[in-house]
Amino acid sequence: MEITAPQGLSGAPPFPQQRACPYQPPPAYEQLGAQGPLSRVTLFDGRVVWFVTGYPEARQLLADPRISADRQRPDYPAVAPRFQAEVAKRLVLIGMDPPAHDEHRRLLNPDFSRKRVASLRPVVQDIVDHYVDRMLRTGPPADLVRDFALPVPSRVISEVLGLPHEDLEFFQDASRRLLQATTGEESQEAGRELIGYLDALATRRRTEPGPGLIGRLAREDVATGRLSHADLVQIALVILVAGHETTASTIALGAITLLDHPEQLARMQAGPDTVPAVVEEILRCVAVTDLAGVRVATADIPVAGQVIRAGDGVLLSATMANRDGRVHQDPQAFDTGRTGRRQLSFGYGIHQCLGQSLARLELEIAFSTLFTRIPALRLAVPADRLPTRPPGSGTVQGVNEMPVTW
Ligand code: HEM
Repeated sequence: MEITAPQGLSGAPPFPQQRACPYQPPPAYEQLGAQGPLSRVTLFDGRVVWFVTGYPEARQLLADPRISADRQRPDYPAVAPRFQAEVAKRLVLIGMDPPAHDEHRRLLNPDFSRKRVASLRPVVQDIVDHYVDRMLRTGPPADLVRDFALPVPSRVISEVLGLPHEDLEFFQDASRRLLQATTGEESQEAGRELIGYLDALATRRRTEPGPGLIGRLAREDVATGRLSHADLVQIALVILVAGHETTASTIALGAITLLDHPEQLARMQAGPDTVPAVVEEILRCVAVTDLAGVRVATADIPVAGQVIRAGDGVLLSATMANRDGRVHQDPQAFDTGRTGRRQLSFGYGIHQCLGQSLARLELEIAFSTLFTRIPALRLAVPADRLPTRPPGSGTVQGVNEMPVTW
């Protein structure tokens, strides 16, 4: 028999929550997971929403057309104040439903295919080498976030989009403010700056050809009327913010995880062939977005013996689905010997991460180069003393600084 979940359930724990260890789930997630594949959490504005912790249930829901990612819907849940900013509600692709979503995605898929991304390997390697060279020249010590994890994906995204190098510092700073803002106003202000910048660049690229995705879309799609100028600006914005902080945080938290597991780090250092499996296990464990998706149900959806009602908010926890004991043996253990890609860190369904091949390439090159060229790299403070980001500052998990030495 189907059980209907009670509406307005009280006592649902708050979301998001502080992590105690930078790469492990917040301690209270364990109790949420123990309640079965579906439970409830309370958002900052008092709204109670579903929290899906089961791997098959999360995939089922993410593939269900009765679940909407449209951030402009009044019933779409805001998981932090910054999501109430207009700039967050208007995000194309990630915040859109079909058919508009699919049209945009079709335009972009070729640029992010595995084959196209593989051709970027020498570019990414050069960028990674550049920042390792600089760390070796100026250190020890160094701050791995400031000196490596953050600038590497920034430079890669700027190459992909075709942004001039001299603008790197500006957009690094503005996207950090956009993603880590604690208020809607702060986020809106940073968003306005980024949009103004990308708008000017996209306009320039129509008459003054330039490299990268913005140049290509301006020439091939805006000029032929397949894409509006405003949508091109929004696409550039979403790629910039989605691909930058996520990858940076995965580099930082992945490095902490490896340093905390010296025997597995040594195995990676001894055998470069193991790096892809190491990256998969890091992705599974750290799940920097915490959520594989935030959605609202547009119809009643039965799942795992419960019914998600039309209008209910649904958070799909990658952190917990990746630790589903029905899918992974000893799910809490960091074990780089696992095979397969059974994790939801890149989401699932039509919104599955556009940049996942690029992210995997960056992570592989970043970890292998860093730990080969600086084999004695170690944290200058214990991992549990690294300040994690306060909950509510954003949804990308990470550390703001990471003092290292060698
Ligand atoms: C480790 C790094 C990354 C992680 C963990 C990550 C995670 C995710 C997740 C969970 C989603 C799905 C969101 C949802 O369904 O609501 C997503 C979507 C997306 N990601 Fe990533 N991402 C990463 C890197 C990148 C990179 C490098 C790029 C761009 C170059 C990128 C661009 C995007 C875009 C554009 C979407 C929206 C796709 C759509 O809605 O069709 N991401 N990402």
